[in-house]
Amino acid sequence: MSRYSLRDKVVLITGATGGIGAACARDLLDRGTRLVLVDLDQPALDALAAELGPGAVLAVAADVTSFEQMCSVADQAVARFGRIDVVFANAGTAVDPPVTVATADVAAYERVIEVNLLGVWRTVKACLDEVIRNDGYVLVTASIYAFVNGIANSAYATSKAAVEMFGRSLRTELAHTGASAGVLLPGWVVTPLAHPALGGNRTATTMARRAFKGPLGQPISPERIARAVTSGIERRAARIIEPRRWAPVSLLRGIFATATDTWLDHDRTMSALVQRLESEAKH
Ligand SMILES: NC(=O)c1ccc[n+]([C@@H]2O[C@H](COP(=O)([O-])OP(=O)(O)OC[C@H]3O[C@@H](n4cnc5c(N)ncnc54)[C@H](O)[C@@H]3O)[C@@H](O)[C@H]2O)c1
Repeated sequence: MSRYSLRDKVVLITGATGGIGAACARDLLDRGTRLVLVDLDQPALDALAAELGPGAVLAVAADVTSFEQMCSVADQAVARFGRIDVVFANAGTAVDPPVTVATADVAAYERVIEVNLLGVWRTVKACLDEVIRNDGYVLVTASIYAFVNGIANSAYATSKAAVEMFGRSLRTELAHTGASAGVLLPGWVVTPLAHPALGGNRTATTMARRAFKGPLGQPISPERIARAVTSGIERRAARIIEPRRWAPVSLLRGIFATATDTWLDHDRTMSALVQRLESEAKH
């Protein structure tokens, strides 16, 4: 596929004031895009818009789980800029503090799937006619949790595996149009979402260090994800994996999953950590 120029394109980003969303917004603006920033909190959106320079930015508070709100955002984007070229369905959440299936609160668990999966679907659905009309691109944020074991993070991992399949299916469905779609699969990134496993919660951090050994456990900056996203959109890539050390794992995921699941099932230290997390959840 030939290079897709970002100049003057209108890019809608959900989860825009978060770590990855805001870094991507900055990078994309540098490439000459116009931006529609969507997140839950209007003051945070206004602060980011002020930093970016409001001329090329529309900042709208909306909840991605509301199809009506996302349709309204799409209408406002077209009213302001005349078009939407790229949709980056990136808003996401996780249960915090991390829990097991046995100790999870039903509403909190289902909210993660509602935001991460149905929020992506509703965001894309609200904007897809515009993207197709403009031969544009849809990027959905999954995670390496689409293919690694979701121990103590299963609502998140389940939603991300589903998002990856959603993006893959959409790309193939769009193949007969001038538009395209792809999946973003970040490893660990230093943002509020990852904080519990990166020092914020002692048990979750110990579990993450045990399950993600060596370079696979090393977090990267949101700015590095942003550079990968910008270049991925310019290629209208099928998948963007960053850091790249996760690419062979993704490629060999069947073997990797069988080996790591078997190891985790028999690892007594991990079982003890699961029990510690469960007892903490009860207090
Ligand atoms: N940080 C990581 O290690 C990591 C790794 C892989 C994938 N991801 C994914 O990257 C995406 C961005 O996450 P991040 O790391 O920047 O975390 P973050 O917490 O900094 O940002 C997430 C943003 O999504 C917004 N959001 C949550 N629910 C929303 C809703 N219902 N409607 C609108 N906005 C909502 C939040 O307000 C927040 O600004 C998420 O989909 C996340 O799952 C993150």
